[in-house]
Amino acid sequence: MTEAILLVGGKGTRLRPLTVHTPKPMVPAAGVPFLTHQLARARAAGVDHVVLATSYLAEVFEPYFGDGAELGLHLEYVTEVDPLGTGGALRNVADRLHSGPDEPVLIFNGDILTGLDIGALIDAHGSSGADVSLHLTRVEDPRAFGLVPTDSTGRVTAFLEKPQTPEEIVTDQVNAGAYVFRRSVLDTIPAGRPVSVERETFPGLLADGAHLQGMVDSTYWLDLGTPQAFVRGSADLVLGRAPSPAVPGTCGECLVLPTAEVAVDAKLTGGTVIGAGAVIGEGTRICGSTVLDGAVVEPGAVITDSMIGRGARVGARTVLDGAVVGDGAHVGPDNELRGGVRVWCGARVEAAAIRFSSDE
Ligand code: GDD
Ligand code: MG
Repeated sequence: MTEAILLVGGKGTRLRPLTVHTPKPMVPAAGVPFLTHQLARARAAGVDHVVLATSYLAEVFEPYFGDGAELGLHLEYVTEVDPLGTGGALRNVADRLHSGPDEPVLIFNGDILTGLDIGALIDAHGSSGADVSLHLTRVEDPRAFGLVPTDSTGRVTAFLEKPQTPEEIVTDQVNAGAYVFRRSVLDTIPAGRPVSVERETFPGLLADGAHLQGMVDSTYWLDLGTPQAFVRGSADLVLGRAPSPAVPGTCGECLVLPTAEVAVDAKLTGGTVIGAGAVIGEGTRICGSTVLDGAVVEPGAVITDSMIGRGARVGARTVLDGAVVGDGAHVGPDNELRGGVRVWCGARVEAAAIRFSSDE
């Protein structure tokens, strides 16, 4: 059996207002807090003990997941009073691990949706004898990630977090946010101060001649750090494009949770999720979107690639495309909101107040 650490303490700044009341890993994706999918996938790969490194809104994790028994896991929670960064967080929880110094420990960023073969990463780590093994993925624009060039044997030659200049863009391989560390390597991270695993630990290990091994694959991979990515990831889980044993229902065009009320002629497609107690009016069309618990969508609204917060209301005939409506916000009838607009929690948008096109 293997142990894992999940990094779930970030502020989720780029996801606001979705993360005003909820830490990023607890925002629902395909009907359950996103973290549930990661925990279920780890369990399926043979992980039995998981330590959650929490900080922002730390108090909400344990009441939901408890000791983890329901997922077949032993879960522990460690909270940083002041955030310690990704590396500091790892060091801060290391004393909760039971693994011996040479045993592998899995580490996951808490916002990664992926089809990674976790067992294959552990096996590759064992056979290469690396100090740290990293899951890598290829992306079109690597600038928002950690660049990880490797040599012909897959050995990591550099780690460049969020490159600033064109000269630094030396590869399209990026850190996919899943690692295997030899346990003793975690103990070398300095304690009691903030440390970035990406900016300090990985470059430092490389400078000291440590063996970092990359494993590139082309499986499903998405960082759910922005509203558009989050909604996309949720839809892909519902559609069955992204694998998870924790989707509460069968995969298909939509997932309607028990107690939601959906008008018979409403069209729900593209991996749409309708939360518990939500009310979806007549003639609405909702595609690739997430409507959270208790939200109301009035008749004739057309919603695409958008997220509607808990208890929010979308007025009749309103068009939303690539929009986020925060918890409890009301968007009145006959509005048109597009292109990354974020309506803040509790805000009110009057009837026919905002359009992106002529009303005639
Ligand atoms: N406990 C704790 N404490 N967790 C933290 C802290 C902290 O101070 N800061 C960040 N985290 C957690 C976040 O909650 C998230 O799960 C993970 O660490 C990564 O933070 P992000 O804020 O999502 O980082 P990123 O997406 O900009 O970049 C990271 O992920 C990319 C892949 O998606 C880096 O690891 C990149 O190198 C990588 O390419
Ligand atoms: Mg991220």
